[in-house]
Amino acid sequence: MAIVYGGDYNPEQWPRETWAEDMRLMREAGVNRVSVGIFSWAKLEPEEGRYDFGWFDEVMDLLAANGVEACLATPTASPPPWFAATYPEAVMVDAGGRQLTHGSRQGFDPSSDVYLAKALNITEQIARRYAEHPALALWHVHNEYGCHNARSHTKAAAAKFRVWLRDRYGDLDGLNAAWGTAFWSQSYSAWDQVQAPLPTPTIPNPGQVLDWKRFSSWQLKQNYLAEAAVIGKYSDKPMTTNFMTGSHPDIDLWEFSDVVDVVATDHYLVGEDPHVNLGFAADYARSLGAGRPWILMEHSTSAVNWQGRNRAKAPREMIRNSFQHFARGADAIMYFQWRASRQGAEKWHSGMVPHAGTDSKIWREVCELGARLKELAEVEGSRVHADTAILWDFPNRWAQEHEARPTTDLEAQAVFDEYYAALWRAGITADVAEPEGDLSGYRLVVVPAVYLLSRKGAANLRQFVHGGGTVLVTPYSGVADETDTVYLGGYPGAIRDVLGVRTEEFHPLLDDTVALASGGTGRIWSEAAESTGAEVRDTYVLPSTAARTGADAPAGTATPAWLVNRFGEGTAHYLTTFPDDATLDRIVAAAAEDAGVAPAAEAPVGVEVVRRAHEDGRSWLFCINHTGADAKVKTADAVVDVPAGEVVVHREH
Ligand code: GLA
Repeated sequence: MAIVYGGDYNPEQWPRETWAEDMRLMREAGVNRVSVGIFSWAKLEPEEGRYDFGWFDEVMDLLAANGVEACLATPTASPPPWFAATYPEAVMVDAGGRQLTHGSRQGFDPSSDVYLAKALNITEQIARRYAEHPALALWHVHNEYGCHNARSHTKAAAAKFRVWLRDRYGDLDGLNAAWGTAFWSQSYSAWDQVQAPLPTPTIPNPGQVLDWKRFSSWQLKQNYLAEAAVIGKYSDKPMTTNFMTGSHPDIDLWEFSDVVDVVATDHYLVGEDPHVNLGFAADYARSLGAGRPWILMEHSTSAVNWQGRNRAKAPREMIRNSFQHFARGADAIMYFQWRASRQGAEKWHSGMVPHAGTDSKIWREVCELGARLKELAEVEGSRVHADTAILWDFPNRWAQEHEARPTTDLEAQAVFDEYYAALWRAGITADVAEPEGDLSGYRLVVVPAVYLLSRKGAANLRQFVHGGGTVLVTPYSGVADETDTVYLGGYPGAIRDVLGVRTEEFHPLLDDTVALASGGTGRIWSEAAESTGAEVRDTYVLPSTAARTGADAPAGTATPAWLVNRFGEGTAHYLTTFPDDATLDRIVAAAAEDAGVAPAAEAPVGVEVVRRAHEDGRSWLFCINHTGADAKVKTADAVVDVPAGEVVVHREH
């Protein structure tokens, strides 16, 4: 039993003399697994059909000799220069219709049969050669599917899109109905008229764009399955690929995660936010595996190189970040990458061994973390239990990316983050769930701008509340079905009965806000909602359209801001605007109380507390103090002192 610790190891970037030192330093840091081969295709197959495995044999043997496991990658995320030179049409075409070229990475069209053939060939060479190697622990298939080329608009992709659409809709009548092509004279009369979206004079058909995103996501999963099938001929070791659960929303991970043996994800801090996106990425990785421990395949020891301003982590911040993932269910803590590169596109990206060498803050923290993870080996395999879920759905997100909507101020990801942040402030650990998923284990479900809610998803939520669950629903939820067709009869058509509300019109706010009767403020959104049975807990005055245009107008009327409806055995909270944080915190507290949901422990805001427990009752309270002040975390049985900026893992039972 051990918590896995390590990172991407790219020895091909370094002279051989460095490799022995790498092994010594890995032992010093407590590294027990590295990912290898991710970007090695050009070195393994320098010309099409000519292979050079000698150097890689040496690397694998060194790892085995030093007790470091290999997470062995197929190098298919970065084809060598010969690929684009020989098969230029197999490189991607972007959304603007531009044919891209070699010179970076992911320079291929995921729908290209030529690419697939070459990728499966190198995969087979590697699988056959290393299947029995003693270092091999896990297969790392490809790297970050769709990170740069999730949607490639080639002719090959369009042809596969048509096949996918036929399968989904049967015939053109089905397709025309689903896409609403009666609008703007878009009805298709032959399959070859159906294309991948490319630039159009104005707003494209939303149904076409949504299905294109679904298809593109499906295509990437097919590529994983094809490589996995080749590996499976030679090896029975587990396989995975590194998702990007906190970013890159272009792949429907609810669908993809079914085919990996263990969920793995990469996470990088964005801007100044050290909690919300990290927590979401980690909770989502856990939820994708139905609560099973997961692999943090990459994060950074300090700065990345791909944001506008790349912030170096403060002292201890890296340790807190790693423990945040560990607390939320990761049993493997890994980084991009072992040694910070001296050259290439990512030379300004931090690594476990920084440019400064081992006399450095980063290296000391790397070694400290390795030692601490070793001491916590018995946590491996324990689970995080959440009785709250927050919904996340890709087609919903994709539909809301469409340019024509009530207000571009409302963004699906921003709403999700705002509600996730409110749960975080309340200390409530949440799973991430899909609208059509099993909600039976939860008491509270948060529905953040789930605009596109399928009939099945709506029925699922209805059943959840009817059976005694509590929901907290934001504006712009339950408005359209799975084909992005609006439900009629008043908004939100899919769940009006559950919420006890009916809205005739949306009134997105311009540059104004609404004043809540309770004293707070509503942003971005207002709507002409009427209660059809719900208790009204707060109101605002709906901005008068006439007043906004300067005309004489009657004063606006009070409209519900927060409605609470009893439905069956459960309770539904519905908001018609986006309240300020303090108001939202009150509403979340009320919903949590209705649901009987409580935080893992009592702790000041900024001190993250998550519990992991084994089935046999052994449990640990992970206390992560992000503040500059010493803090106390209190449970029914204990008071845990957590110094400023530090992590304390308290063994409870
Ligand atoms: C991704 C990739 C890595 C590296 C990092 C940089 O996660 O998988 O190869 O590019 O980003 O942050």
